[in-house]
Amino acid sequence: MSATDAGTPTIGPADTLLFELLATPEGRADPYARYAELRERWPVHRLVLDASAGTGGTWVLSRFDHCQAVLRHPRLGKDFAAMQRRWGLSEEELAAQVAFTDDRRSMLFRDPPDHTRLRGLVSKAFTPRTVERLRPHVVRLVDDLLDEVGAGEVDVMTSLAFPLPVTVIGEMLGVPRADRPQFQRLVRASAAALEPFVTPEALAAANAATLEMEAYFRGLVAERRAAPADDLLSHLIAAEDNGDQLTEQELLSTAILLFAAGFETTTNLIGNGLLALLRHPEQLERLRQDPGLLPSAVEELLRYDSPVQVNGRVAGDDVDIDGHHIPAGATVLTLLGAANRDPRRFSEPERLDVARSEGSSMSFGSGIHFCLGAALARMEGQVFFGRLLERYPSIELLDESPAYRDSITLRGLAELPVALGS
Ligand code: HEM
Repeated sequence: MSATDAGTPTIGPADTLLFELLATPEGRADPYARYAELRERWPVHRLVLDASAGTGGTWVLSRFDHCQAVLRHPRLGKDFAAMQRRWGLSEEELAAQVAFTDDRRSMLFRDPPDHTRLRGLVSKAFTPRTVERLRPHVVRLVDDLLDEVGAGEVDVMTSLAFPLPVTVIGEMLGVPRADRPQFQRLVRASAAALEPFVTPEALAAANAATLEMEAYFRGLVAERRAAPADDLLSHLIAAEDNGDQLTEQELLSTAILLFAAGFETTTNLIGNGLLALLRHPEQLERLRQDPGLLPSAVEELLRYDSPVQVNGRVAGDDVDIDGHHIPAGATVLTLLGAANRDPRRFSEPERLDVARSEGSSMSFGSGIHFCLGAALARMEGQVFFGRLLERYPSIELLDESPAYRDSITLRGLAELPVALGS
């Protein structure tokens, strides 16, 4: 019987495992065996190691169907601030988490109707049809980057995985080229606030980074207001000017979210995906021989080592997930990386198969917050892997075990050194 079933807050093996997974560098770097044990033994688990015990607690889910049910559930939302108020956090303590304050929350942290309104203002720019029109341009961008890289030893993360997506979303949004590189540091610092466990120091750095990005975009908005351009930022400014569709603060939060979400995750699709292919040379060869497999290969790379491993919701009411009672006020963490390896959903889930055709994984989430940039990320991934394999007959991994950055919510490599042979 688990600690949860017994109703007594004793620390059991599931908590020890979750603590390792979510709060230690070793667990965050190597999550998959731990995911498997959780998914089979404690698929819906209430954390005992949780300061909020007695307020609904924190629940961790690891099976595909359970995660999907949570993400699609109308009473499981994003009002983390309301939840924290229920926990007794003061307004000052709440304000210390900049990204969650009421006026700063982006669509990612809002429920309908605000979520619907904010998403609706930008969704047209990310439809599969609009994105498809960008494909030839993205092919040119990838080719230019590969021209610069040439042949020989290269760190994929620095030379390709970061520059490609930051250029694509930077151009769409209208962030000048020279201003883009500083955002890698800022986005990574701010993303610490998305971790299930965060130190006060990391949270302070996340807040500072969020405020720095906000100040930057406030300046850029002023420039675009004076001289509009054909970009998403100018489009959002027009929406703000045309009535009560969007406040200035919402405009800033939307711009920061689009820019940050637009590159950090796709950077990690390129890094994690290339590492997976290099560790499975027969799959890489199969894809090289049959570029028609690029769409299924990108889906599979997303499933196999997802750039986003965890997301979360807050229970607005008592809810039932497959017979498990989750009380109002609970935080529910959905382990997307664990769901993606659920044998109930995918056959032989530990196997990389670039021709797998078993439907989408959980890597872009599900429900109303389903990734707005999914079509863009897929297209960038297809173009990147397609051009890379076509131009380099040999790609050699120079470090068999490259280190992952210490984060579980966003999973990606610090470096990926390879030798490219033309
Ligand atoms: C491989 C790359 C990507 C992955 C794995 C990914 C993953 C995700 C996931 C899992 C969510 C849902 C979060 C939740 O339910 O709490 C999400 C939301 C979002 N993503 Fe992505 N994403 C990627 C690329 C992009 C790109 C290129 C953009 C472009 C702007 C983008 C923009 C967004 C936005 C705006 C949301 C919030 C949507 C909402 O709240 O309705 N993402 N993404």
